[in-house]
Amino acid sequence: MHNFVFHNPTKVLFGRDTIPAIGPETKAWGGKALLVYGQGSVKRNGVYEQVIASLREAGVEWIEHGGVCSNPLLSHVREGVRLAKANRVEAIVAVGGGSVVDAAKAVAAGAVVEHDVWKFFTGKKGVKATLPVTTVLTLAASGSEMNSGMVLTNDETREKFGFGHRLLFPKVSILDPETTFTVPPEHTTYGAVDAISHVLEFYLTASDPDSPVQDRLMEGLIENAMAACERCLIDPRDYNGRANLMWTATLALNGLTAAGLGRVGFPMHLIEHSLSALYNVPHGAGLAVVMLGWLRAHRQSLAERIAGLGRRIFRIAAQDSVAAADQTIACLQAWLQSVKAPITLEQLGIPVDDIPTIAANAKGLARIWRLQEYTPERIAAVLQLCR
Ligand code: NZQ
Ligand code: ZN
Repeated sequence: MHNFVFHNPTKVLFGRDTIPAIGPETKAWGGKALLVYGQGSVKRNGVYEQVIASLREAGVEWIEHGGVCSNPLLSHVREGVRLAKANRVEAIVAVGGGSVVDAAKAVAAGAVVEHDVWKFFTGKKGVKATLPVTTVLTLAASGSEMNSGMVLTNDETREKFGFGHRLLFPKVSILDPETTFTVPPEHTTYGAVDAISHVLEFYLTASDPDSPVQDRLMEGLIENAMAACERCLIDPRDYNGRANLMWTATLALNGLTAAGLGRVGFPMHLIEHSLSALYNVPHGAGLAVVMLGWLRAHRQSLAERIAGLGRRIFRIAAQDSVAAADQTIACLQAWLQSVKAPITLEQLGIPVDDIPTIAANAKGLARIWRLQEYTPERIAAVLQLCR
């Protein structure tokens, strides 16, 4: 195992009836907040009313900044920064899924500087201070509720870039599984796929995977994401199914899985972000397709690791590693189809003739994420295996 520092400062309140804590928990950081939410699901499912009742009760004044879209846009974040500055808010409250939490983090970083917030995403500026962020999560997927990362689409350049900074961990995140009862089946699936891919990225790119403790943890998270997803598709109001999926998604990208693995990569995400930037596909839907292509592209070079995963999770019996890796990929594809995830570019509505354009779009993020080995040619080769 490699040396590591594991420091996750986010306080998580998990379970039923935790939303009323958002007011006091936010008041502890500031008496005036920007309230960030999406396109309206929180108003339809009653979460918004619970949040503002708690803010009011705690004496927190709020300015609204709704309208965050899936794959959040730079233009909308810039407006949030303007509002936060004009109203001198002291905290940002995010109520929604990963897109809302990410947008809130970006506003928190942009509200305390004079330069454009996009400069953080291109690496041209570093974070030195931020406003505090508190969250009420309503979708199990991204893990943003307990990590320091965020991803934004520049709607002028159609680039989707992500960055992280330790000051951008949410101070407090409220995870009440009941808020996810209203998540539609497709986003239940996409969220589980996102969580699975977060684990797979590290499991398969770890440079020195002699870490059985991490391997068993990651295999368990993948198994649980699959089982919990199936439970929630059968019964969307299955509290323990929703609770297990929610906590699995949080643990899948809060730093715990990467501990001790040394340098890891995020290549599936590198490629998928271009699909979302160019075609606005849901992040988890894009990952379901890219994951299969990426695995096929590495079926020989990573045969042992893929086969090891398949033996644990799918009880693959084949002795030969490449044969076992192929069976593992086939089992994963069958599972994705069973939960109605897309498995080809065509099913995403993306023309295969666009592959060179998609590959070129990913070049900027490959540079920022130091994944230059993912040349447009290599990305195109992976995408050719997503047909
Ligand atoms: O906008 P509203 O009306 O809220 O509707 C949303 C949206 O249409 C809906 N939804 C959310 N909670 C709901 C609900 N519908 C009914 N009931 C509820 N309780 O679901 C749709 C998708 O929401 P979104 O927030 O976009 O989904 P998700 O949580 O998967 O977030 C995706 C974003 O997270 C980023 C992705 O790039 C993408 O932009 N990621 C963030 C990461 C991070 N910060 O660490 C890492 C991830 O890999 C990912 O890249
Ligand atoms: Zn993701």
